[in-house]
Amino acid sequence: MKISVIGTGYAGLSTGTGLAAKGHHVICMDVDENRIDKIKSGLSPIYEPGLEEAIRSAAREERLEATTSLEHAMKNSDVSFICVPTPSKKDGSIDLRFIEHVSRDMGMVLRGMDGYHVVAVKSTVVPGTTERVVIPNLEEFSGKNAGEGFGAGMVPEFLREGSALKDVLEPDRIVIGELDRRSGDVLEELHSVFGAPVIRTNIKVAELVKYASNAFLATKISFANEIGNIAKKLGIDAYDVMKCVGLDNRISPHFLRAGIGFGGSCFPKDVMALVRKGSALGYEPRLLEEAIKLNRGQPLRIVDLLRKRAGSLKGRSIAVLGLAFKPETDDVRESPALRVVSELLRYGARVRAYDPKGAENFRNVLPKVSCFSTAREALKGADACIVLTEWPEFRELGDDDFSGMRERIIIEGRKALNPNRVSGFEGVCW
Ligand code: UDX
Repeated sequence: MKISVIGTGYAGLSTGTGLAAKGHHVICMDVDENRIDKIKSGLSPIYEPGLEEAIRSAAREERLEATTSLEHAMKNSDVSFICVPTPSKKDGSIDLRFIEHVSRDMGMVLRGMDGYHVVAVKSTVVPGTTERVVIPNLEEFSGKNAGEGFGAGMVPEFLREGSALKDVLEPDRIVIGELDRRSGDVLEELHSVFGAPVIRTNIKVAELVKYASNAFLATKISFANEIGNIAKKLGIDAYDVMKCVGLDNRISPHFLRAGIGFGGSCFPKDVMALVRKGSALGYEPRLLEEAIKLNRGQPLRIVDLLRKRAGSLKGRSIAVLGLAFKPETDDVRESPALRVVSELLRYGARVRAYDPKGAENFRNVLPKVSCFSTAREALKGADACIVLTEWPEFRELGDDDFSGMRERIIIEGRKALNPNRVSGFEGVCW
């Protein structure tokens, strides 16, 4: 099938590349010329394992194109996915600016198109958005009626950064919110290449499924952190507890890793947007508000622990291992490391950091941090070390790597170090 993907962020580019890898013909469209130029020359504008190779191989087989022309993308495809960002407004509610723009522009292109075309929203949008914003804009600007002149749907994406392509290629389920049977049939056929269970439902349900999934996982992490904070007070390791708790089939072992809390471009933003949507509907989502509040405080626990162990941080040199919000990504958006490092700087500490991929993005936000090209260099002369991201390479560190520290205080915010190789460290919840 011929597909266009409008917006080439994590979701758009990974989805487009995954669909091309499965044999569809995909046109990736973005207004950002730099991004498109990179994709055209076989480079991925974001760091994501396996993505660049997949872009190249799909382009070689002439199944992946990139363009800045919305008209070209839509006119040469049967289905268009809207994958533009949905950031937050100042109050945490969803900012639909890009959705508004793109749906108007797509309506204008639809006006000049013959034949049936399906527009599906993949961006995370609060329930009601597709039916109240996207479809009306498409109708107004195309002069066509949804369900007659064009089809529409909402197909949420559940991919994680760091394993985005793999998640696209091996989804647990495909949820199709359909305007009508015809739109749903097209979207089901398109997704059949993945061999995953397909659930067809209405558009609003599909929109809420995405928020409910993210809100549940975020709450599960905050729950694990709450138990972790109690475990720490008891002098036990939260992971010993959660290993047993997770064996209960009703609970599952996933997303029970206690630490310095969740970050990234989705959980913090989406849970807050759902809270705001609930409030706007006259309901106060207290559980979700608490999950967010707990998460805001969680990164600071490592700073408290550090101050307890090291005393005043003024003028002290602190090595920070890991800046990205999770391993295998260079993304630092809402990374707990931002809060931790800001706090260290506020206390007058000097920060020597190392992250395999995220240093550049981090320094764009907090330029006062010195970044080094290995963990060992960052550790040299440090008065203490904190570990904030569980990069696999940190598992390989041994006592020798920490031997250049002036004082040996090592605290983990994530389970990252190997206790068989490194001695004498502690964690926020262990
Ligand atoms: C998340 C959802 O998992 C994905 O389905 C959705 O499409 C986008 O948002 P992502 O933000 O990429 O994906 O990463 P994820 O692996 O979910 O981790 C999010 C944050 O939670 C990270 O900061 C991670 O370190 C943290 N986390 C995760 C924990 O603190 N404990 C856990 O047990 C799991």
